[in-house]
Formats: sequence, C-alpha cells, structure tokens
Amino acid sequence: MNRLVCCLLLAASGTAWSAGVSYTALDNRIAIEVAPRERNQILYEMRELLHGLHGIHHAMAQGDMKAVAKVARPMGETMNRFPDSVRDRLPEAFMQMGLAMHESFAELAKIAENKGDVRAAHEQIAEIMTYCSGCHDTYRFEQVAYKAGKRPRLEPVNPYTAK
Ligand code: HEC
Repeated sequence: MNRLVCCLLLAASGTAWSAGVSYTALDNRIAIEVAPRERNQILYEMRELLHGLHGIHHAMAQGDMKAVAKVARPMGETMNRFPDSVRDRLPEAFMQMGLAMHESFAELAKIAENKGDVRAAHEQIAEIMTYCSGCHDTYRFEQVAYKAGKRPRLEPVNPYTAK
C-alpha cells in the first residue's frame, strides 16, 4: 500500500469516526444542578444500586431467594438517602421514576420472600432496570459551586497558609 492510499484511508476513517462521535458526543439530557458534596453522595448511592444488583444476580444464581429479598429490601430506600437539599430540587419526573423503582424493589423482595418464583423475580429485575436506564437516558447531574454565604465552605484549607 503506498503512502497516498494510506493517507486517504486514514482520512476516510477519521471522517467516519468524527461523524460517529458527533452523535454520541452530544449530551441532551436534562441537567440537575448539584453541589460537589451532593453529587458525591448521590453517586455513592448509585454505585450501591449497582452493587445491590450484582448481589441479587449472585443470589439468584445460587437459588437463594431469601438472600435476594434481603438485598432488595433496602435498595428501595435509595431516594430517601439523598441529601434533603437535593430532594427538594429534584424534578417531578425524576422523583416519579425513583419512587417507581422503590416500589419495584419492594415487589421483588415480596416475590422472593413469598413464592420464591425465579421467573417472576427475573421479570421484576427487568422492570427495575427500565427505571435505571430510563432515568439515566433522561437526566444528568451538573456540578455547580456552592453559593457563597449559603453553603459551607468547600475549598480545602491549607493549614500552613490559613490565618
Ligand atoms: C431517578 C433517576 C435514577 C434512577 C432510577 C437510577 N439512577 Fe443511576 N444515576 C442517575 C443520574 C442522574 C446519574 C448521573 C449521570 C450523569 O451525571 O452522567 C446516575 C449515575 C449512576 C451511576 C454512576 C455512578 C458514578 O460513580 O459515577 C451508576 C453506577 C448508577 N447510576 C447505577 C444505577 C442503577 C444500577 C440503577 C437502578 C437499579 C439506577 N442507577 C437508577 C439517576 C438515576
């Protein structure tokens, strides 16, 4: 392959790549403004949801429906652990999806406790995950600085220069 062909191929793949990127590089999701600490706290809870789903799948694979119920129960309480300051500002539809997820986890726990029906439990997990994806497709968090005077100071204080 000569140099020119190489260059043309590179240029063509570059165009295709940038064309592909231009679609996924756009983030049209609705931004919810959060302060850095609020964001950390919420994302911590989000990662707990992922850990919980892992635990649930693991328990299902072991056929341990009691463990499924045990993991699923507290997972419905995620929204209640969001900082109060954020909960007041969350859009209505965000809250609705969170509440629906809450009920779905409670239902999963009930299925696992009562009948232990594996197929019904799988269906319930699929429903739960429509809320995970639905919300992630719609919203994103945007970190904003605390408003001076209204929120605690966030900058790390350097003990050597602090007066
Ligand atoms: C009501 C809305 C909502 C629901 C329901 C929801 N999430 Fe999230 N989650 C978010 C938002 C918003 C973000 C931040 C996305 C961003 O800013 O790009 C996020 C971020 C995450 C992250 C990234 C955490 C990090 O450290 O960056 C994980 C993991 C996650 N969610 C898991 C889940 C799982 C698993 C479920 C379902 C069991 C779930 N979420 C349900 C709104 C939601």
